[in-house]
Amino acid sequence: MSEFSSQAGRPRIVAEPSMQPEAVDAEALVVFATEGGLGAGGVAAVDAAVGGVITKLAAAGEITGKACECVSILAPAGLTAPQLLVVGLGKREELDPGVIYRAAATASKTLAARKRGEVAFLADGSWSTRQLEHAVAGAAVGMVGQDLYRHEKKRTAFATTTWLAAPLDAVERGAQLGDGINLTRRLVNLAPDDMYPQAFADEASAVAGHLGIDIEVWDESRLAKERCGALLAVSRGSSRPPRLVVMRYRGSGRHDGGRHDGGRHDGGRHDGPPQLALVGKGVTFDSGGLSLKPADSMMGMKCDMAGAATMLGTIATIAALKLPVDVVAAMGLVENMTGPAAYKVGDVLTSRNGLTIEVHNTDAEGRLVLADVLDVVRGLEPGRIIDAATLTGACMVALGHDVAGLFTNDQASCDQLVAAAKTAGEPVWQMPMFRHYDAQVESDVADIKNVGDGRWGGAITAAKFLERFVGNTPWTHIDIAGPAFSDKPKPWSDGGGTGVMVRSLVELVRGTPEATT
Ligand code: BES
Ligand code: MN
Ligand code: ZN
Repeated sequence: MSEFSSQAGRPRIVAEPSMQPEAVDAEALVVFATEGGLGAGGVAAVDAAVGGVITKLAAAGEITGKACECVSILAPAGLTAPQLLVVGLGKREELDPGVIYRAAATASKTLAARKRGEVAFLADGSWSTRQLEHAVAGAAVGMVGQDLYRHEKKRTAFATTTWLAAPLDAVERGAQLGDGINLTRRLVNLAPDDMYPQAFADEASAVAGHLGIDIEVWDESRLAKERCGALLAVSRGSSRPPRLVVMRYRGSGRHDGGRHDGGRHDGGRHDGPPQLALVGKGVTFDSGGLSLKPADSMMGMKCDMAGAATMLGTIATIAALKLPVDVVAAMGLVENMTGPAAYKVGDVLTSRNGLTIEVHNTDAEGRLVLADVLDVVRGLEPGRIIDAATLTGACMVALGHDVAGLFTNDQASCDQLVAAAKTAGEPVWQMPMFRHYDAQVESDVADIKNVGDGRWGGAITAAKFLERFVGNTPWTHIDIAGPAFSDKPKPWSDGGGTGVMVRSLVELVRGTPEATT
């Protein structure tokens, strides 16, 4: 199995489709139960093996099957495994890959509280292949915590995860999806002094090397040559130089007569345009710049590169799955700081597409970075552009912590993303882009300004600003300021980076290939 984190070796995830659950020689066996009738899937067979203990506990109200409920049965008679964990899936009618992903992650997180050798999961026989893949991904994500710097870890990944009653190829795909999400999470969770623009570029290069993705890293002089004046201005207050990472995965076979080899062939100069361009905001730390953030809001701003990490995790997964599509991912990487050369309020920047931008607030830096990166990918004439960014606090005010905001200039392609997110079970909500908001980014001295008039509708005015840089290309912006990072633990996660939208974006590319042509 491939493994594309630059950390050494991901834990083993294997399939044993014909292994009987009662005989599995693992430290724990996980089974899934639904609310209101345990379900006929794997849980019924295990219940029979343990002499109906699960049914009895359900009758006594100890096991309800509510979403993410975990009930541990120790030394169960009839099983080789010394521990049986029954995890709830909630109501059958509400079952989607998101519910399954979180339930599997909850079980995994619970068991990962101490060191384990092998843990076995029994797939529910009623799941679709897709649902199974999201379960495998969830289990892979749940056992990895955010405590990268703790000597005594809160979570230890199992040495081996064994999936019973599950086909090998689906388990493999789920594990690759889990890798992509864990990659995104790890980069978000790293301390900002370890995850600066060049460090991100190094991680991206390592991933690209593993998976045979072409990569270019633009340094300051290339960025200057490319007239990326908005991105460069944001980075000026930092001692860490900016980078722009451009990765190209070629899976369509359009260039080489049908080889789906993840683009390992050299050159690629005769490319057609990519079907999809992914753009990520990679502000590795956002102090606000001279429009400095108050201390409380600055905490957590290591997560401001989550958009870039999301797109890296996504293109890595697309390449690992060898999906038949050509995708470019571009990440704008800067630190927003207050050093002596910092850009100032009142400055007028010239962006790559020629528009002049009056700076009203140096904390509205994400849109400045994205302006130039969007223009770079627009030049590749992609079929569509999707960007992800922790762009505005206003989006969190509007939608809360768990929901990503969508903004588009092309309803049809946004609808496809909404559908993919629904399939993946990740909540998204489309926000309006009425024409009358355009007036709010007008400036007295330049073509546009980098904030709206006052804070109202701030997520929309930010999107309106971005819209000026995509031309006629179908484009959807995803504001992940809310769901990218979780301050509080959840049953399925210790908190920190979530890897949100990786599953939806991979689903978009997989589920509706016509959507990307
Ligand atoms: N990175 C922030 C947005 C953010 C806030 C992300 C909270 C995650 C959690 C962004 O760069 C920012 O500071 N936006 C400003 C824009 C304002 C100055 C127009 C904001 O939302 O306050
Ligand atoms: Mn900011
Ligand atoms: Zn920011």
